[in-house]
Amino acid sequence: MSATPNPAAATEFAKGLAGVVAGTTAIASLEGTLRYRGYDIEPLARAGDFEEVAYLLLHGQLPTQREHAAFGDRVAAAARSLPAAALDALARLAAARPDAAPMDALRTGVSMLGLVERDDTPGDRTALLVQAERLLGQVPALLAAWLDLAAGRPVAPWPSGSLATALLERLTGRAPAAPHAAIFGTTLVLYAEHEFNASTFAARTVASTGSDMHSCITAAIGALKGPLHGGANEKVLEVLGAIGTADRAEAWVHEQFAAKRVVMGFGHRVYKDGDVRAKLLGTMCREMVRGTAGDALEDLADRVERIMLAAKALKPNLDWPAARVYHALGLPVNVFTPIFVVARMSGWTAHVIEQVGDNRIIRPLSIYTGAAPRDYLPLAARG
Ligand code: ACO
Repeated sequence: MSATPNPAAATEFAKGLAGVVAGTTAIASLEGTLRYRGYDIEPLARAGDFEEVAYLLLHGQLPTQREHAAFGDRVAAAARSLPAAALDALARLAAARPDAAPMDALRTGVSMLGLVERDDTPGDRTALLVQAERLLGQVPALLAAWLDLAAGRPVAPWPSGSLATALLERLTGRAPAAPHAAIFGTTLVLYAEHEFNASTFAARTVASTGSDMHSCITAAIGALKGPLHGGANEKVLEVLGAIGTADRAEAWVHEQFAAKRVVMGFGHRVYKDGDVRAKLLGTMCREMVRGTAGDALEDLADRVERIMLAAKALKPNLDWPAARVYHALGLPVNVFTPIFVVARMSGWTAHVIEQVGDNRIIRPLSIYTGAAPRDYLPLAARG
């Protein structure tokens, strides 16, 4: 039996699929600037709210006021109705491993929801949309529930208000000031979607096999967790903490280069002249903390940016300002990447629906670099 030969009989390939077009999408484009379904990211980030953007990504157009309100109600209702079986299981895990990373709790939690809700097929478009909206509410509620359970508290109810306001209230334990809820919402809008990034591609790959929504999202969360992707926003604060003061920045950055370590929060596979989202949020972050103790961290961040630009022509990505915003809002570092999950749920689920709607299994080829053909020797003959 012979396999179809590798068409290129290839000796060349794009490591990390850099520059490879792996499919089509109508959800987001990065040409010139980032656009969600044709809308420039800047007005969406300045004036849109997360529900509006999530609706746009999932349904293809901006909602009317009525559609917006109804969508928000459906998402909030889902946040208030986590299945008891999933919560019970989470409570046991929290009692056994209270120090587990919230990212692991989310990945496990979504997988448990799939089991509890008996999700085993992709369903039709309508069913997938219902599921996507439900998960949009359940995932932030899972995160908040985990934090309560891991701290040994009873699970608090999901507050009223927009998803951004409610989640920020759940994460800090107090109703947020309006400007804080607004910038937090902006981070969710900016994190919502980004075309064929690693986690979205993971979700689409799982969807392409005919698997179910919860399996796609579980895979996506696992991919997002890595420090080269979503995990970078947690590492950014470690970087700033490790440098300490602006006068140490130059030496610290060059130590990283000498050790061939990447500086978290800088560089991007697609944006080579800077990440539009980082520019937008960086400015907002500086404005938010101006005149407070947060100024010192902004000065340090500024210094690192200038050093990275001069030394390597590298500019910040979204994780660089997002970590500083979350820190300024008083959030613990271990929820930074889970917040990214909450936001990216909108993009992931939209991509799963798009993949299911026009599917062919994702199955690329590889170039074999292993041992030459050799004969099998039975175990007994190998001594
Ligand atoms: N610090 C130091 N050097 C870097 C950095 C960095 N942050 N980013 C890239 N480089 C270097 C690479 O090592 C490479 O050097 P080389 O030519 O000597 O090998 C060169 O710059 C070019 O790298 P790219 O091809 O542009 O990097 P790639 O596309 O493979 O990786 C990535 C992109 C993973 C984002 C990388 O820039 C990185 O590791 N950054 C730090 C982690 C991070 O911030 N991730 C968040 C991504 S954005 C997001 O998830 C919202």
